Amino acid sequence: MCGIIGVLGEHEVAPILVEALKRLEYRGYDSAGIATVNGGRLDRRRAVGKLVNLSDLLVHEPLAGKAGIGHTRWATHGAPTTRNAHPHRAGRVSVVHNGIIENFRDLRAELGEAGLQPESDTDTETVAMLVCHLLDSGKTPVEAAHGALMRLEGAFALAFLFEGEDDLIVAARKGSPLAVGHGDGEMYVGSDAIALAPLTDRITYLEEGDWTVITRKGAEIFDMAGRRVNRETKQVWLDATRVDKGGYKHFMAKEIADQPGVLADALAAYLDGDAILLPDPGIDFSRIERLTLVACGTAFYACLTAKYWFEKMARLPVEVDVASEFRYREPPILPGTAAVFVSQSGETADTLAALRYCRDKADTILSVVNVETSSIARESDLALPIHAGIEVGVASTKAFTCQLNVLLLLAITAACARGHMSQAEKSQLLAELRALPGLFNATLDRSADIEAAARKIAEARDVLFLGRGLMYPLALEGALKLKEISYIHAEAYASGELKHGPIALIDKMVPVIVMAPRDALFDKTVSNMQEVMARGGKVCLISDAAGLAQAGDGIWQGITLPAVDDRLAPLLYALPAQLLAYHAAVAKGTDVDQPRNLAKSVTVE
Ligand code: F6R
Repeated sequence: MCGIIGVLGEHEVAPILVEALKRLEYRGYDSAGIATVNGGRLDRRRAVGKLVNLSDLLVHEPLAGKAGIGHTRWATHGAPTTRNAHPHRAGRVSVVHNGIIENFRDLRAELGEAGLQPESDTDTETVAMLVCHLLDSGKTPVEAAHGALMRLEGAFALAFLFEGEDDLIVAARKGSPLAVGHGDGEMYVGSDAIALAPLTDRITYLEEGDWTVITRKGAEIFDMAGRRVNRETKQVWLDATRVDKGGYKHFMAKEIADQPGVLADALAAYLDGDAILLPDPGIDFSRIERLTLVACGTAFYACLTAKYWFEKMARLPVEVDVASEFRYREPPILPGTAAVFVSQSGETADTLAALRYCRDKADTILSVVNVETSSIARESDLALPIHAGIEVGVASTKAFTCQLNVLLLLAITAACARGHMSQAEKSQLLAELRALPGLFNATLDRSADIEAAARKIAEARDVLFLGRGLMYPLALEGALKLKEISYIHAEAYASGELKHGPIALIDKMVPVIVMAPRDALFDKTVSNMQEVMARGGKVCLISDAAGLAQAGDGIWQGITLPAVDDRLAPLLYALPAQLLAYHAAVAKGTDVDQPRNLAKSVTVE
């Protein structure tokens, strides 16, 4: 988390830094700050809370200079206060940081003995103090920065700015992404290409352990041992203008509403008639013996859904785990395993670490990502883009449905390769899939019913979600969406688990949202609903017309969706889950796009 930016420009940099921080705010929004060098003089401005507070501060206390660094923070060490906001400064150096310096306590104690005292509670300030100490011992800025980098343990993307140096930024990456941008007579560095998008499309991605000395003439890149290295400069096409709300009140509302078009485009990218287009060389599913799917949060629920598809349709055993557990569990990876990592951002620290754990163990490393230039994509044997477009709302919506889409296409490919799906079955399923954007539209047309139900749900303190089979992961996703943006406590259970404990929670204060298309398991879910209603529980049933008719009387809220092939239901039922959370959050007046304590890209573990 945290976004960093650095600019060596030809014009005043403060407005450029603030604009870039706007594009990085998805990485955290606890505080923001910038530092500049003007005529050799290093100065900074910092403000707590959203970026707008920093902009306001700069109106009253402007900061001049054509060289600068900036930061938007997601707090790790130290509360979100001005004192803890970046850039941190010690003597002649200022620094911005994304990541965690694990040995900062030891370093701080050592620097304390040398007479340096911190002003903040952060790990980052220790880095500035260390550089300051090395500068004071006679090192040049570049030597001091490199000397400090050699001492750091943990994960970091760092950018340093120095008093007296109007044409120098030193930056480094280990564990957190960093991109160098090349302009005409200007140079940039940022957490990702999106931050740099309107400034340049010529990007060099630093590799693990790289550090770079940037001047307006260009960037010299070195590895940790100090050897000069060449890294490719790529043309990266990112349309920063696509990042707008398009008339919607929130990015999340737009991203939910965009899903019919986004899914249609994603399908067009992967389908040519009945052929599923996967990059060559793809995975030979006839030879793969098992899959390991790893991800975090919403992407993990996409993996959980995919387990049902791969196991049922392709008879391929699947293990699914959250990346933060997987990476330290040291699971044996047997020969014949393909490891699949799903990540919208492609930068999630735990997922990346899990991928690296599998690097020399799995037969193939496959990733399913939204950001094709991300670390996870670049470190995979095969990276499949989900084609969701830039997702700004912190709560993932269109990326989830597009992750499901790619995982489903993979499962169909596997089912055919392993002889468990005929060509005719495949054609029929793909035809249903092509019709899905139309069903998405029909569902969005009913969003008034969903909004009405959401307003009632917004009054609850606790909510339960239930689902069976393919609807179980979706119930988990529905609960996650509701809690993260409306702050209503929500839990999800497999419907059959209800009577093994959670049924004790049922009373008239706890709405129970049941996600259940009228599939082969529907009768069993109806029985579970009866058990809830018999105890005074209020059931909100999301189903198709046949399901709602069969469920009978006593349903508190009914939300009718179009009938859909059972296998595709998770994609369609994602929409009411998202809309319920969205409208509940709006009814409660929470910050939908930037909910408290969260960040879009989780680059610390
Ligand atoms: C929830 C949400 C998060 C992410 C998770 C993984 O709405 O967005 O749970 O899904 O942080 O992020 P990525 O997919 O970028 O690895």
